[in-house]
Amino acid sequence: IVLPQEIFGEDRRNSAGVDLSDPLVREPLLERLTALESREWTASPTGSKRKGETVTSPYDHGAKVGTVVDATQADVDRMVRTATTAQPAWDALGGQARARLLDRTADLFEEHREEFFSLCVREGGKTLPDAVLEVREAVDFLRFYASEARRQFTAALPLPGPTGEQNELRLHGRGAFVCISPWNFPLAIFTGPVAAALAAGNTAIAKPAEQTPLIGALAIDLMHRADIPEDVVFLAPGDGKVGAALTSHPMIAGVAFTGSTEVARIINRTLADRDGPIIPFIAETGGQNAMIVDSSALPEQVTRDVMSSAFQSAGQRCSALRVLFVQEDVADGMVAMIAGGMQALDIGDPRDLTTDVGPVIDAEAKKALDQHLAWLDKNAKKIGRLELPAAAKKGTFVAPAMYEIGSLRELNRENFGPILHVIRFSAEGLGKVIDEINSTGYGLTLGLQSRIDTTRDFVEQRARVGNLYVNRNQIGAVVESQPFGGEGLSGTGPKAGGPHYVARFATERVTCIDT
Ligand code: NAD
Ligand code: ALA
Repeated sequence: IVLPQEIFGEDRRNSAGVDLSDPLVREPLLERLTALESREWTASPTGSKRKGETVTSPYDHGAKVGTVVDATQADVDRMVRTATTAQPAWDALGGQARARLLDRTADLFEEHREEFFSLCVREGGKTLPDAVLEVREAVDFLRFYASEARRQFTAALPLPGPTGEQNELRLHGRGAFVCISPWNFPLAIFTGPVAAALAAGNTAIAKPAEQTPLIGALAIDLMHRADIPEDVVFLAPGDGKVGAALTSHPMIAGVAFTGSTEVARIINRTLADRDGPIIPFIAETGGQNAMIVDSSALPEQVTRDVMSSAFQSAGQRCSALRVLFVQEDVADGMVAMIAGGMQALDIGDPRDLTTDVGPVIDAEAKKALDQHLAWLDKNAKKIGRLELPAAAKKGTFVAPAMYEIGSLRELNRENFGPILHVIRFSAEGLGKVIDEINSTGYGLTLGLQSRIDTTRDFVEQRARVGNLYVNRNQIGAVVESQPFGGEGLSGTGPKAGGPHYVARFATERVTCIDT
């Protein structure tokens, strides 16, 4: 792999974010964010002028954030046809020109970052530190995929010509790519696949999650303001029905999906049954993520890393820790420390900087988590569960909780919230633990807390996971440094933010010239 810097002398850096610990930065920012709360936002399908439905906040379902108009079947058809017609000219622009437009979009995202912070908090229920990370990751995706467009889509790759002919390989866009995203990374994971599709020379139709259309709408608006043409990138708000209309359309050229494993299976079936060409399907889905803690681990570090892995973002990260395996000799002390750390978490309004755990996204998410907690109350040993504050009644909150269970087989689905399960294991049973984790079929993140090199090598060799984190938390993968994505039930790959991602949105063409 040739690094972009070596070709173009680029000095690309990841986005710097905002230093919220500096009061001179933080206090004026908080004032501006309070002022932005009176702003009402809108989202509608690109090219539509209909009136919309109200969007409210997960921390206060009485608080209006804006309005959304869902795409109709006719909108979907119009977008796919227009995007298909526009694609050859966009592809012909070449990697350099497309990269410039993506870089310009990244600059505009940074200029408008406070609007995104406000929306991520108000519409997505994110805490402000999470909102800052969200914008950084989106900007990083735009700049990294721009550098990938320069690296892979500018010049032809010369191939050997042993019999005297001239052989070359070029990457091209495929057509209109459909990008369907989840609510839990409403900007970063909304933007990443769209940026990759565009970098590769495709046009793109972006469907945000039904819970977070307003963030997606601002992102697409800024792409248009950065001079990416309106017939090249489209917004298609709506729920699963809009997703189904897009994925069943016979003219689409590919689907990049991030969301639940269940919906990925539905899309797989839709793509198999529809008319039209055979097209790529990139799916990044759920996990049953574990952390293994052995007796050589440092208790303070484990406590800190478990707190962020399991409870940051209210546990609503695909990467989040769900099952903690603790070696039995140290389990009592370790579990007591973690339970103590949990007691220090503040649950509340995500606009408040003291809040550690904000709301879950909606009533449906809360219902599923409450049902699982009721099941745990009957079938597992409660280690700790926090109380919800009175103000939590206005929104959809679930208090962090920790339960001890007997085996991973007791959990038959991903529980997408702040619930941690603990399982004890014996020192001789490490191999069995990894086999048990592998047997879930998921393979997204795995944490390991151990100071023993041979243990690390053993886990690295045996575990079938996309991202292994040793002696640190297991969330917050950084674009380019920790390309992110799983295997098995957790997704198809390639890894988001990695060197093979953009090329998967492209088709390869070879020219052979006999001289
Ligand atoms: P979801 O599967 O319910 O929805 C994801 C998207 O799919 C939404 O835009 C939704 O409208 C759309 N959709 C629903 N039905 C559809 C259909 N029939 N056809 C086409 N599209 C349809 O997921 P969610 O609740 O929004 O997000 C949470 C899930 O996403 C979790 O499982 C989490 O693990 C996963 N996730 C994975 C990653 C990753 O990188 N692996 C990242 C973030 C989230
Ligand atoms: N990139 C996100 C994380 O690592 C999914 O938490």
